[in-house]
Amino acid sequence: MKTRRLLLLVLAVFSLLGVFTAGPGPATAATPDNNAIAAKYAKNPQLGAAITPLRCGLAQGGCYRGYRNGSIYWSPGTGAHMAVGAILGRWGSLNWERGFLGYPTTDESCTLAGSGCVQKYQGGRMYWQRSAGANPVKGGIGARWDQMGAEHGVLGYPISGENCTLVSGGCVQNFQGGYVYWQPSVGSHSVHGAIGAKWVQMGYERSPLGYPTSEEQCGGSPLSCVQYFQGGTINWPTFAGVSVNPYAGSTGVVVNKRRPNSPINQTPPDLAWVGSQLMRSEASWQYSQLVAGASAAGVALTPVSGFRSYDTQVGLYNSYVSQYGQAVADTISARPGYSEHQTGLVMDIGNPNGACSLQACFENTPAGQFAANNAWRYGFIIRYPWGQDWTTGYTYEPWHLRYIGVRTATDMHNRGYQTLEQYFGLAAAPSY
Ligand code: DAL
Ligand code: ZN
Repeated sequence: MKTRRLLLLVLAVFSLLGVFTAGPGPATAATPDNNAIAAKYAKNPQLGAAITPLRCGLAQGGCYRGYRNGSIYWSPGTGAHMAVGAILGRWGSLNWERGFLGYPTTDESCTLAGSGCVQKYQGGRMYWQRSAGANPVKGGIGARWDQMGAEHGVLGYPISGENCTLVSGGCVQNFQGGYVYWQPSVGSHSVHGAIGAKWVQMGYERSPLGYPTSEEQCGGSPLSCVQYFQGGTINWPTFAGVSVNPYAGSTGVVVNKRRPNSPINQTPPDLAWVGSQLMRSEASWQYSQLVAGASAAGVALTPVSGFRSYDTQVGLYNSYVSQYGQAVADTISARPGYSEHQTGLVMDIGNPNGACSLQACFENTPAGQFAANNAWRYGFIIRYPWGQDWTTGYTYEPWHLRYIGVRTATDMHNRGYQTLEQYFGLAAAPSY
């Protein structure tokens, strides 16, 4: 009884001091959260009368209070911010402060293009615009959208959240003017306009083109544009070569004695280390998956030779020529500028004990067997198969794994294609 009387006295004193905000619900003690929420409310009477008491014990030690026209959320790390209108509703649909957005870190600000609003959260941002509705942006897709000019750019406002149920772990977000795709091995790229429409018509990321690997690149006079995809390119305005179309710079490029690297001394921009060797990033990631798969099957693989520069190939080719003469050298080593190793999409593999290294008998070793049976699952092919000299121009190299992408390697495997030339319908390249 005594405690209760004391509590009432304390409450009365606080009431006189004006600690509590108006509205129903039990009075609450003055705590930092309550003070912050009350202070926020005092500056924003447009919220209207309180319709809930202060409620604490939320995630991260947060509190909120509901008012007729919105809520105020507070957490120790974010302070007190208002949540109102459509953005509040959408945030709620994303599981409030327990969702990926967490707590608001600002109030909404409604000074954007087309009378749009933005509110920042711990885990991203929420945009609202009358014709786009309220949608969150975050992460790699949000960063790409920012780079494209955000709501001022060609993409405009988001009209959906992210959908992360696409093939190969990909995500997409729809914007007023196009899409932004993200996939672990290619990162985030937008697709829009006429090139985007063509890609959509072809079947999006499930088409042979796969995911975009670059933005649209435009230039020249008259203006023309190109966008690179995993399995080909789309050119505007001609749309020539839209299909499974190997092109310089893509993981689908075909390099052989009739198709040199372009430019002939090019170095890929995205080389990454694989042990002591280099490969392009997507290929290096898939190679590490291959190594992990082999390891799980009890087979150890050693990287022997990955990316080789034009200059490296000069030395290598010349040494073969002086050892065997040019005619023989040409059946085992590419001339400078013509080596697939220069694409950064190749790894010559070996056994850790060096058994049959770079020899045909490699096919019977554990590493050779694993590669022959499983490389396709990771997007690799044995590029110079036995008995295909008349197509590839090289004798059998069971150790030379070429990354072409899981989609293409799987398709080649399922349909029994042995060489890229045959698969892509390109001329055989037995000689220069
Ligand atoms: N050994 C292969 C053909 C190269 O030199 O690229
Ligand atoms: Zn090789």
